[in-house]
Amino acid sequence: EIVDARGQILLPGFVDMHTHLREPGREDTETIESGSAAAALGGYTAVFAMANTDPVADSVVVTDHVWRRGQEVGLVDVHPVGAITVGLKGKQLAEMATMAAGIGRVKMFSDDGHCVDDPLIMRRALEYSSSLGVLIAQHAEEPRLTVGAVAHEGPTAARLGLAGWPRAAEESIVARDALLARDAGARVHICHASTAGTVELMKWARGQGISITAEVTPHHLLLDDSRLETYDAINKVNPPLREKSDVDALRKGLADGVIDCVATDHAPHAEQDKCCEFSIARPGMLGLETALAIIVDTMVTPGLLDWRGVARVMSERPAQIVGLSDQGRPIEVGEIANLTLVDPNASWTVSGKKLASVAHNTPFEDMTFSSKVTTTVLRGQITVRGGVVANRAGE
Ligand code: NCD
Ligand code: ZN
Ligand code: ZN
Ligand code: ZN
Repeated sequence: EIVDARGQILLPGFVDMHTHLREPGREDTETIESGSAAAALGGYTAVFAMANTDPVADSVVVTDHVWRRGQEVGLVDVHPVGAITVGLKGKQLAEMATMAAGIGRVKMFSDDGHCVDDPLIMRRALEYSSSLGVLIAQHAEEPRLTVGAVAHEGPTAARLGLAGWPRAAEESIVARDALLARDAGARVHICHASTAGTVELMKWARGQGISITAEVTPHHLLLDDSRLETYDAINKVNPPLREKSDVDALRKGLADGVIDCVATDHAPHAEQDKCCEFSIARPGMLGLETALAIIVDTMVTPGLLDWRGVARVMSERPAQIVGLSDQGRPIEVGEIANLTLVDPNASWTVSGKKLASVAHNTPFEDMTFSSKVTTTVLRGQITVRGGVVANRAGE
């Protein structure tokens, strides 16, 4: 089979450490099938499906289902993320060992979307994780500081009368869990870093020799809280869009390697949960199909990253952090390829209705980008050709 790659950039298949696929439980917003298509179109060959499904992915029954369904669909490896606790904000640790030993081989456990606010639970999870050799990923929000909060706590939110979510809600947990990881001799991964202070804390923790890594989302690299002027709930997200100074610090942190990688936090939501008042709308944005284009616009175009750097933050670092040994890792000579081709001169305009996700909640509607994934290859099989999902039956 011939792929016309003239003028295109070859990259290793992308790895997303943070995707919400909503199956089981909210198939009206995303399924493993629709989310896999979105991932492949975004250039991904591996995604990590977050645990805040219904039922919660706190048992091997759910995590094995997620892996098996992803393999059935066959467009991207869907690695299940296990929940740290049994149930939402549970007081009991989930059976991580059982999930790690299942067919889904759970490598990462998270509290994302159901904040572990109890430091003792986090301490026990970190201690347990180091003996199991799995990763704990932290949503980094002190919920007692964000009760009723919907937007970044700053002048814009104050003027608009929106309840403010302080930077301290994130930074206090980053600091707390860095120290807990140090004491437990464990690794901790910070989800969706959003503040300049988190970048400073990462530098500090690394300087102390603490095993801590962090991701940043494309939307936190592109958008700031000036978006709130319209009160459009499409811009509501956890953590909130922050100020321009935070955006600049996150870009610089990613360029310097203080922030390790990009993760989408792809969060589909139903129309009625986004087209309503800011205060009652659900937080979250679609991210899989637009991630690469945004990284090019925010990092490559301003000269903060070269294409080698794109490979690092979109594929190599996430694969290393989560310990993908047999899938989704960088291209090596002599191996079956997971790869992505990018057209750096493709002008395209985002339309939520045309995205592969069931939900349409993109904050990038009508924005035009210059780079687009044209081809994705999973273990030598083409999953996307000419920017369209390949017909698996016709391969
Ligand atoms: C996430 C979701 O919708 O599941 N939403 C979000 O705004 N990032 C959960 C979360 O991380 O809070
Ligand atoms: Zn989160
Ligand atoms: Zn999330
Ligand atoms: Zn819609």
